[in-house]
Amino acid sequence: MKTPKRIQPLVDEGLVDEVISQLMSGKEATVYVVRCGEDIRCAKVYKEASQRSFKQAVQYQEGRKVRNSRRARAMEKGSKFGRDQQEEAWQNAEVDALYRLAHAGVRVPQPYGCFDGVLLMELVTDDDGNVAPRLNDVSMSADTARRHHALVMGYVTRMLCAGLVHGDLSEFNVLVDSAGPVIIDLPQAVDAAANNHAKWMLARDVDNMSQYYGRYAPELLTTKYAKEIWALYEAGELKPDTRLTGEFEEVLLEADVNSVLEEIQAAFEEAQERKLRLQEMELE
Ligand SMILES: Nc1ncnc2c1ncn2[C@@H]1O[C@H](COP(=O)(O)OP(=O)(O)OP(=O)(O)O)[C@@H](O)[C@H]1O
Ligand SMILES: [Mg+2]
Repeated sequence: MKTPKRIQPLVDEGLVDEVISQLMSGKEATVYVVRCGEDIRCAKVYKEASQRSFKQAVQYQEGRKVRNSRRARAMEKGSKFGRDQQEEAWQNAEVDALYRLAHAGVRVPQPYGCFDGVLLMELVTDDDGNVAPRLNDVSMSADTARRHHALVMGYVTRMLCAGLVHGDLSEFNVLVDSAGPVIIDLPQAVDAAANNHAKWMLARDVDNMSQYYGRYAPELLTTKYAKEIWALYEAGELKPDTRLTGEFEEVLLEADVNSVLEEIQAAFEEAQERKLRLQEMELE
């Protein structure tokens, strides 16, 4: 097909040889199938900031680190230079996350860099070379649902161990190839330690997955992976290969909170008594 304007610079640079077809055009990006030498790859062209929707929301930006302080100040001021810097940071967030996650053992498309707002990555395909379907478009047996759900819980765990929460994980952002689920669409990924919304975003991500796979294996609907994962993470005990159970004893935690409160109350009463005794001694 005719080379889209945004991909032309990559053709000029020799990074892309040919644009084969448009895969889809969504709210946030347009995705193309391209040829790079012998390889068929995927090119994701980000839309302008004004056309993007919820993923720009402040909740996702919180805690994102900007190393260069001049750049950080410009971004805060909202000048043209600042907006450009913000745009660049946004475009690089996904490729950075992909490299980090591939390294951490999460199944994501292999990234090949981001150039002028175009992310080049592996095209996920089925065995015949056709573009892999989204999770939303496949049905499966209860057994496969259980297996794939366990894989995804493992990926969420590894992601969190690498410091990230996807933030928009759903059946629309998971592709399925012959080896199972592949996680995509990460420009909004949040920094788990620095973002105060990370906990509920992780819960939403995990619950979306349990709900979806739960259509095929209903016992997944009552699992508590999100709470289990977050509790282990907060305790510093989450490891990339932690074996999860999907169970979580909230009662125990409440009992703990109660015993802490009792301790505080006891300490308070003791202090009061001491004060009283001192006052009595002074009066004597
Ligand atoms: N690496 C890939 N391999 C195969 N297909 C892909 C790949 N990346 C994206 N796609 C296809 O393009 C679609 C959009 O990609 P992505 O989810 O990353 O963009 P998006 O900005 O979220 O778009 P939307 O707003 O429609 O969700 C995916 O749902 C998937 O069908
Ligand atoms: Mg998407």
